[in-house]
Amino acid sequence: MAKTPTHDVADLGLAAQGRQRIEWASRDMPVLASIRERFQADRPLEGVRVSACLHVTTETANLARALQAGGADLVLVASNPLSTQDDVAAALVSDFGISVHARRGEDEGTYYRHIGAAIDHAPHVTMDDGADVVGVLHGDRGEMIPGVIGGTEETTTGVIRLRALEAEGRLGFPVLSINDADTKRFFDNRYGTGQSTIDGLLRATNLLIAGKRAVVAGYGWCGRGLANRLRGMGANVIVLEVDALRALEAAMDGFSVMPAAEAAAVGDLFVTATGDVDVIRREHFERMRDGAVVANAGHFNVELDLSGLAELADGPPREVRPFVQEYRLSGGRRIYLLAEGRLVNLAAAEGHPASVMDIIFANQALGVRFIAEEGRSLQNRVYAVPKHLDDEIARLKLQALGVDIDELTDEQRRYLASWERGT
Ligand code: NAI
Repeated sequence: MAKTPTHDVADLGLAAQGRQRIEWASRDMPVLASIRERFQADRPLEGVRVSACLHVTTETANLARALQAGGADLVLVASNPLSTQDDVAAALVSDFGISVHARRGEDEGTYYRHIGAAIDHAPHVTMDDGADVVGVLHGDRGEMIPGVIGGTEETTTGVIRLRALEAEGRLGFPVLSINDADTKRFFDNRYGTGQSTIDGLLRATNLLIAGKRAVVAGYGWCGRGLANRLRGMGANVIVLEVDALRALEAAMDGFSVMPAAEAAAVGDLFVTATGDVDVIRREHFERMRDGAVVANAGHFNVELDLSGLAELADGPPREVRPFVQEYRLSGGRRIYLLAEGRLVNLAAAEGHPASVMDIIFANQALGVRFIAEEGRSLQNRVYAVPKHLDDEIARLKLQALGVDIDELTDEQRRYLASWERGT
């Protein structure tokens, strides 16, 4: 690599290990690899400055390689202070020549300094996972907005923030909601979060899921995936919901559904996946059994009311294993908080498996190209991923899995577009 790009990473000495792990993940990312090859040939992002604020993991590294192959001038910063894989950050800088500003465990000041570096890059295209770059751009750094063609957003929580900006008429450029692609929600939120949240729980605690009363807050895309996988491992799953339709769906899927206050008294294990604030609060912690384990899979660390928990505790928490903090409550009851209430699947495990991220990041790569090419003709709104991109990605993934499907016959196509034939 000609010269080392600007960076702020923990230890460049970790690069060899990071490179090995990035290559391991790439074996399970055939769709992204095919996009990378196409980008390499077509160079659709030549001269496009991209500022990406994503979890710095092996899978993201492969996305970064695809964008770089397309000609993008890329800066990557962390979208969560705890999810950075330091060896991956090092490899991206020293082996792939990509500018990275991310350190695992960075404090809030450093986190926002890194976001500042992403903005100083004067992006044409922003990529967010939680809308922090867009958030800062629309706060203190509004002077940079005119240079931005558009952005992409990865997750539910980010899309909620963007839609709020759009509703106030303040969104300064168009943003593509990767989260609203069918190929994202079906596979990332459901299968990816479902499996990797359990991976995080197990790595942190090594507890046996079978026979546990597991409480899942939220029966959305993530909650459904998680609840079903916990059930598959033998847990008795209780679902908390506030939406009547989803609560009904959970009940008909065979789960117990009840209010948080009731579940608090009986659960062994609690995981929030709602995108909402203070879902498990002081009055719920107060009712929990000795040894209850509490974690969050929602985007921000706001779903558990941690100040309420701290108020109940008779002193500061004690770290009893990596990512496990013990809070002692009056009467000697103990509550175990995982990963300080941050995304447990990214903090205590490795995030989604590469095969899932292959689909999502294929959306991101094609999404960045779409914004770079079409962004100027779009309005300042949140857009869904165009249906043809979704279909293309699903087709490529099926191909990679070696799965063939039927095609409609001409007769079927005609029938499905007609009204004449009845009984
Ligand atoms: P969703 O909108 O499909 O589902 C959220 C559900 O939570 C809804 O059904 C809603 O009614 C329910 N809910 C809201 N407030 C509640 C409350 N106080 N009590 C009980 N239920 C409540 O959202 P999705 O896609 O499942 O995402 C949930 C969160 O997970 C978001 O913050 C999202 O950003 C995050 N996420 C995390 C991932 C990870 O890797 N851990 C991956 C993808 C999304």
